[in-house]
Amino acid sequence: GKVVLAYSGGLDTSCILRWLLDQNYEVICYMANIGQDEDFEAARRKAEQIGASQVVIEDLREIFVKEYVWPAIQAGLLYESRYLLGTSLARPCISVGLITAAKKYNALYISHGATGKGNDQVRFELSCYSLWPDVKIIAPWRIKEFTSRFQGRQDLIKYASLNNIPVPVTPKAPWSMDANLMHVSYESGILENPNNEPPHDLFHMTQDLAKTPNEPFKLSIEFCQGLPVKVITQDAQVFDKPLEMFTYLNQIAGKHGIGRIDIVENRFIGLKSRGVYETPAGHILHVAHTDLEVFCLDKEVYRVKQNLKEKLSDFVYNGFWFSPEGEYVRKCIALAEETVTGKVNMEVYKGNVVVLGRWSPVSLYNEELVSMDKHSEFSPSDATGFINIQAIRLKEYHRFQKQQNK
Ligand code: ARG
Ligand code: SIN
Repeated sequence: GKVVLAYSGGLDTSCILRWLLDQNYEVICYMANIGQDEDFEAARRKAEQIGASQVVIEDLREIFVKEYVWPAIQAGLLYESRYLLGTSLARPCISVGLITAAKKYNALYISHGATGKGNDQVRFELSCYSLWPDVKIIAPWRIKEFTSRFQGRQDLIKYASLNNIPVPVTPKAPWSMDANLMHVSYESGILENPNNEPPHDLFHMTQDLAKTPNEPFKLSIEFCQGLPVKVITQDAQVFDKPLEMFTYLNQIAGKHGIGRIDIVENRFIGLKSRGVYETPAGHILHVAHTDLEVFCLDKEVYRVKQNLKEKLSDFVYNGFWFSPEGEYVRKCIALAEETVTGKVNMEVYKGNVVVLGRWSPVSLYNEELVSMDKHSEFSPSDATGFINIQAIRLKEYHRFQKQQNK
C-alpha cells in the first residue's frame, strides 16, 4: 500500500521512512513549510535518496496565518492561562496537507513520527480522521516491532548508517524543538527537570533581555472584527498583508525580547510536561486584542465569550480543531467579535508590551457617561440605593457569622 509520511528531514522520520519501505510500503514524503527554518531542498534530496517515491513540499505559511493563527488571536486562545498554542494550531493545518496529498496520490495510510506520550499524535490522528474518516494511521512509535528495535537514539544512528541514511554531523541539542511561524517550543532532554534553568543558547526568535535595545519602539495594530488588519510603526512602515504583518511583528517583538514563557502544562493524555516557548508576534497580538476587546464589547457578552475561549483553548490543545464543538464555538466567538474593531497603540521595551491608548469607531465606551465632571442620566442617590441593595446579603451573612461565633 501507499503511505503519506509527515517527514521532517530529521533522523527519526528518515528512519521511519526506511522502515516503512522495509515493510513494503510505497512512501510519499510530505513536508509543510509553516515557517520553520529548514533547507527543504536538502530534505527532498535526502528523502529521495532513502527511497521515497514522491516528496511533496508545500508552502502553507499564509494558510497557517490566515486560517489558524488569526482565528486563535480573534478568540484570544490561551491554554492554562499561558500557552498560545503554537504547535497545537499547526497540527490541523499540516493534517489538511497530509490528507490532500493522500487523496491525490491514492494513498490509504498516513504515518507520523510523534511519540506515544504526547499531544501531537492525538492532534494529527483526530484531525486526519475528521478530514477523512476511512484513513488508516501508522504510528511507528506505538508499534512494538518498531519500538523494540529502536530503543534510543543510538539505535536510530546505527540503523541509519547501515542503510546509507545521512546522520546529522552536528551533535543533537539536548532538548527537542518544534518550530513554526508562530513559535518555537522546547521540551524534553535537560528541560525535563522542571527546576533546570533553560540555557541562553536555547532561543531562536527572541533576544535575551540583557541585549535588547535601550530605546522603546512604538507601533499601532488595527483590528477589524477581532482580526488583525494593519500594523503601523513609529517610523511610518505599514504592513497589511497577514503573512508580512505577522513576520514583521515576530521580528520587532523578538528584537525586544517579547514572548518567552517557561511553564509546566497538562498534556491531554494526563501527563504533566515542562515546556519553554517563544511566541513574539503572537504575544503582542494577544495583548493588543485583549485590550481592544474589553474596550469594545458589551460587559456580559465579554464574559460569555471568556467562557467560550476557555473551552476552545482546550479543544484546540486536545486536537479537536475539526469537531462539532470547535466549529460551533468558533462561530459564536466570531459573532461576538463583530464589534471588535479599532486600533491599539503601544510600545515594546525590554520584554514588555505597554498599551498606550486605544481607539474604536464602535466601542461602547462613553466618555460623557463615565466623566467625573459631568452629570449623567442617573443621580448619585441611585448609586446609594444600588449599594444598599447589594449590601443586604452581605450584612445578613456577617450578622449570622457573628452570632454563630458567640
Ligand atoms: N507542548 C506543546 C504542545 O503540546 C508543544 C509540543 C511540541 N511538539 C513537538 N513535537 N516537539 O502543543
Ligand atoms: C511528541 O511526543 O511527539 C512531542 C510532544 C507532544 O506531542 O506533546
